[in-house]
Amino acid sequence: METIILAILFFFFIITPHVSPEYTRPNPRPLVSRPHNRSDSEPQQVHISLAGKDHMRVSWITSDKKVQSVVEYGKASGKYEASATGESTSYHYFFYSSGEIHHVRIGPLEPSTTYYYKCGGSGPEFSFRTPPSAFPIEFVVAGDLGQTEWTTSTLAHIGAKDYDIFLLPGDLSYADTQQPLWDSFGRLVEPYASTRPWMVTEGNHEIETFPIIYPHGFKAYNSRWQMPYQESGSKSNLYYSFDVAGAHIIMLGSYTDFDVKSDQYKWLQHDLASVDRSKTPWLFALIHAPWYNSNLAHKGEGESMRKAIEQILYNARVDLVFAGHVHAYERFTRVYDNKGDQCGPMHVTIGDGGNREGLAMMFENPSPSISLYREPSFGHGRLRILNNTHAHWSWHRNNDSNAAMADEIWLESLGSYAMCKGITSSKFANDEL
Ligand SMILES: *[C@@H]1O[C@H](CO)[C@@H](O)[C@H](O)[C@H]1NC(C)=O
Ligand SMILES: *[C@@H]1O[C@H](CO)[C@@H](O)[C@H](O)[C@H]1NC(C)=O
Ligand SMILES: *[C@@H]1O[C@H](CO)[C@@H](O)[C@H](O)[C@H]1NC(C)=O
Ligand SMILES: [Fe+2]
Repeated sequence: METIILAILFFFFIITPHVSPEYTRPNPRPLVSRPHNRSDSEPQQVHISLAGKDHMRVSWITSDKKVQSVVEYGKASGKYEASATGESTSYHYFFYSSGEIHHVRIGPLEPSTTYYYKCGGSGPEFSFRTPPSAFPIEFVVAGDLGQTEWTTSTLAHIGAKDYDIFLLPGDLSYADTQQPLWDSFGRLVEPYASTRPWMVTEGNHEIETFPIIYPHGFKAYNSRWQMPYQESGSKSNLYYSFDVAGAHIIMLGSYTDFDVKSDQYKWLQHDLASVDRSKTPWLFALIHAPWYNSNLAHKGEGESMRKAIEQILYNARVDLVFAGHVHAYERFTRVYDNKGDQCGPMHVTIGDGGNREGLAMMFENPSPSISLYREPSFGHGRLRILNNTHAHWSWHRNNDSNAAMADEIWLESLGSYAMCKGITSSKFANDEL
């Protein structure tokens, strides 16, 4: 009898799904297919990423292995006054052989400028716009993207309104070792990722280890999604940083070592020490598994990384931490060491891109006081930095064919907030920082 009562109580008080009265949550949607329909020498899966000051990396794949890694580009359509040569790679995964994966770094490029470009001398012309050199700038954020009809809905909403840079806190294709799904993902995102820089970090779905044969994992991810790790002094594509306009953005690796003795930790200390808040008043970090999470999915999975790294991010006055992994949206207050703290970063979980696993419907009840908004819906976020001190964050739920803004908040940079300027936390006060 007692167990039955407890079970009923548990159901009603602990795992009651969060349901907002005006909106019925949809089911997962099927995978979309994007077959390869260009010729073997033509580029497919074209995407771009920032690659050090005033440079962009152009990445694409050709079935024809002999295509040269050359990008021709210019400021007028069809008139390419510059060209650059890069490198290509390919990989095997069991019986799968990838096409030739090309990476070419181009530049110097002017800010806020549209460039037209052609990859490998054939196929369609693409174009992108470089980010501005000063505020305002707008980031779009969505994690756990996948390649379902919800993904296409999220991407359509993202593309319907202008922005400068896409930030993805892990879990891209959900190929889960089926390598052709990396190719279809590349084709699905090309219309977006070839026109604005896509800056990604890895999630658990990128790992793809196999005992003895592929013990280190990340074969597809590292080959296809090369990020500016060398440009930011990192030894691994699994963590890096970049500057854009007046923001310094740190892309951390939740699935590589992060303990105090690790390369990642040492690199991060060095990277944080080099941040000059008078040049980059805004400072963000992205991870995959959230450190703060009141959803029942993946509870506690980010805890060991939080214990290792939270203090140095706090000491550096990071403004915002974005995470993915949990397929829902949740915004916390500024927080440090599990308590609200006006000098800590605001944490946002945004693993709501639309993958095939569906939504994480169950939140802890009651909501912890540091959690300010939570909702299991697919959608995307927008961070618009107005100037050195003010930014606006908004979250847009996928409401079928339109996107509906459901959450928003104004943020003030900790770099300009006098009270938080000094380092107050004691442990690392005498460290390199
Ligand atoms: C190739 O595929 C894309 C995306 O599915 C589609 O938009 C385009 O019309 C196709 N082109 C041809 C020639 O079939
Ligand atoms: C920064 O933007 C905010 C919001 O628009 C505005 O209130 C504030 O005055 C701006 N600050 C400066 C220095 O322009
Ligand atoms: C959501 O979509 C429904 C049906 O498409 C529409 O009636 C409703 O107005 C939309 N809500 C918002 C907030 O856009
Ligand atoms: Fe994940």
